[in-house]
Amino acid sequence: MTVKILAFCGSSRRDSLNRKLLEIAASAARTDGAEVTFITLADFPLPIYDVDVESAHGVPERVRALQELFARHDALLVASPEHNGGYTAVLKNMLDWVSRPTATGSSGLTLFAGKVAAVVSASPGPMGGIRAMLGMRGVLEKMGAILIPQVFSLGSAHQAFAENGGLVDEKADAEVRRVGLGLVGVTKQLTTH
Ligand SMILES: Cc1cc2nc3c(=O)[nH]c(=O)nc-3n(C[C@H](O)[C@H](O)[C@H](O)COP(=O)(O)O)c2cc1C
Repeated sequence: MTVKILAFCGSSRRDSLNRKLLEIAASAARTDGAEVTFITLADFPLPIYDVDVESAHGVPERVRALQELFARHDALLVASPEHNGGYTAVLKNMLDWVSRPTATGSSGLTLFAGKVAAVVSASPGPMGGIRAMLGMRGVLEKMGAILIPQVFSLGSAHQAFAENGGLVDEKADAEVRRVGLGLVGVTKQLTTH
């Protein structure tokens, strides 16, 4: 089977370090035969989730588009930047909207149930956004996803990337690639048994 991965990053900044890190994990997943779809949250601007907004206007069309994307993929590859010790508001807001009822009326959480997920993080700081990465794993787990054990957070990320897009530190480069490979491996195992 071809594993289909939906990859997204909690930063829509043009030069996002998290996005660059995600690219490395994704390229490893591709070497193992996975199909990776990258989405940028800047392409899906959403109001801050509010029950009254949903009651008055319904679920936005952009959320419908995201829900369809989630439905078409087996696994999630997420890069979670850290804002004040947690994941970014834009990332959590997107997930909250996707969890709302789908066009067919089923819970949006069905789009997370049993989906395999991996989270990485990058920060110019020494901790590499590890708190945001662990927090995001907890959120995805609560939503029903199966988190793989491989994790990676990249400290001093502003100095970590080589010209070719990989990481200067070869051991770190191999670690982040292991996240992409682990995601494909676990997804294959779960879907063939
Ligand atoms: C509001 C705000 C809060 C931040 N808080 C943290 C933090 O708690 N820990 C950390 O390591 N970096 C923090 N940073 C720095 C971000 O990690 C840094 O801007 C990073 O490059 C953002 O990810 P990106 O490069 O993918 O856009 C913060 C940045 C902003 C704008």
